[in-house]
Amino acid sequence: MHILKTFIEKDSIAEKVSELALRLNKDFAGQKNILIISILKGSFVFTADLTRQLNFSFDLEFLEISSYGNEMKSGEAKLISNFNFNPAGKKIIIIEDIIDTGNTVVFLNSLFEQYEFNKIEYVALLFKEEKYSAAFPVNYIGFKIPDSFVAGYGMDCGGKYRNLPYIVTVHEA
Ligand code: IMP
Ligand code: MG
Repeated sequence: MHILKTFIEKDSIAEKVSELALRLNKDFAGQKNILIISILKGSFVFTADLTRQLNFSFDLEFLEISSYGNEMKSGEAKLISNFNFNPAGKKIIIIEDIIDTGNTVVFLNSLFEQYEFNKIEYVALLFKEEKYSAAFPVNYIGFKIPDSFVAGYGMDCGGKYRNLPYIVTVHEA
């Protein structure tokens, strides 16, 4: 059994998503060859809300990555979907629900290394600053959060709670 505690309310999320969209709209205004890659499954809600507020032109692709060591601990990142698009020459914007240790960032950077892409930026709704150990900067962060396990707004705990419209912390009962 899990105990869920409300952590970030619906309105605060909406406000933050709009702030991020505003920044992206400013930074990418008038630019070409933009490829947004949404990392499934956790980013599906964030991606839907964020991309609908973007007013520059971009292609949108999805990659499914599994990074679960176990239910509440992130582990090694694995690509579990097809990679059937070409990022060559693109400015890549990766949308992540949450960045924790940075394993996924390292994994994704090495995945794209073989292509001559133009640049790569990460947009993460949540960022566990204390746990992040990758050398790569994450320039678009919604909320910096302490090291607790969260779910809702697309994010899961053992496959559950993705449908919650707000974010909770998950505790063992
Ligand atoms: P990282 O590779 O350690 O940075 O972890 C990134 C991935 O682990 C995220 O995209 C999530 O899928 C998952 N993850 C890490 N922390 C949490 C959490 O608190 N709740 C839900 N998923 C998480
Ligand atoms: Mg994820």
